[in-house]
Amino acid sequence: MDNESVNCIITSPPYWGMRAYDNGDDSREIGNEKEFEQYVTNLTNIFEEAKRVLRKDGSLWLNLGDKYVDKALLGMPWRVAISLMDSGWIMRNDVIWHQLKGTQSCKDRLRDSYEHVFHFVKSKKYYYDSDAIRIKPTKLPTVSSSNTISSTGVSGKKYRKLIQESTELTEQEKANALKALDDTLAEIRTGLVNDFRMTIRGAQRAWHSDSVKISGRAKELVNRGYYIMKIYAKGHLPSDVWDIVTEDTWRKDSHCAVYPEELLITPILATCPENGIVLDPFNGTGTTVVASLKLGRCGVGIDLSPQYIKTAQERIDNLGFLF
Ligand SMILES: C[S@@+](CC[C@H](N)C(=O)[O-])C[C@H]1O[C@@H](n2cnc3c(N)ncnc32)[C@H](O)[C@@H]1O
Repeated sequence: MDNESVNCIITSPPYWGMRAYDNGDDSREIGNEKEFEQYVTNLTNIFEEAKRVLRKDGSLWLNLGDKYVDKALLGMPWRVAISLMDSGWIMRNDVIWHQLKGTQSCKDRLRDSYEHVFHFVKSKKYYYDSDAIRIKPTKLPTVSSSNTISSTGVSGKKYRKLIQESTELTEQEKANALKALDDTLAEIRTGLVNDFRMTIRGAQRAWHSDSVKISGRAKELVNRGYYIMKIYAKGHLPSDVWDIVTEDTWRKDSHCAVYPEELLITPILATCPENGIVLDPFNGTGTTVVASLKLGRCGVGIDLSPQYIKTAQERIDNLGFLF
């Protein structure tokens, strides 16, 4: 593949020591290495090549699971991740994919319920469309000519009274706080802000740390006498813990450990522009390509197994797109 030709790489290589794939004795198959150190080296080399193919502003999302050997959890995802960091990749997030499952087969430890999805970039400036992945508020504010009430019922009346009756604020601070409150209510009326909370010095218990050393909000409270936390109508960013159930069984049409399409929505929307190219170098049954096509992106998949390539092709054909 050409240098810097894809926008985004999303992939889940075989986990070490699972011997899950039907590639015969193909020595090129990843995951069958005798020593895990060799597995880490092989993956690092493959992702060096992926780095060449990725655009300068591109992203790599890497899903990896862990393994116990002789009772010891190996920490494989982190071994690979650290090796990738050492080879120049910049890690932006360690997403915990909480799988909401886990069989209780072991009686002397907790059940496993998550895997990692690491987000890496090639350079500090990279493509990221945060607006595309924001979680929009479900309730809207009430706005009428006589009333402005935030989505959770805050009208500002209580805050106005606290400011006016404050014995802590100077007259100037009171005037500033009232103006800030009115400005916020105006932002609700224009649809910019969905909800807000106000903290007034000496009036309520602060929800943040009181230490001005560690909290910018505490500092504002000391310097200005109030702090307003706003929830913007365009929504908030998802966190780095994702609750997504696994595919309930391995696909019937092959014996490949698939990841759910839902896992790919945030990576694709945030780090691949429309009509851009998503690459999966361990394509399996083609989930990455299918999700990319559904979201209006192009998809390229590579796999060692002709059988999985065939399954992937069938899934793509079933989408009914005309190429
Ligand atoms: C975990 S599966 C990927 C599953 C995929 N995410 C899906 O949803 O179907 C890993 C895939 O890597 C493939 N594979 C193993 N070694 C490979 C190599 N050296 N080059 C390309 N593909 C390889 C296996 O055949 C398998 O299909």
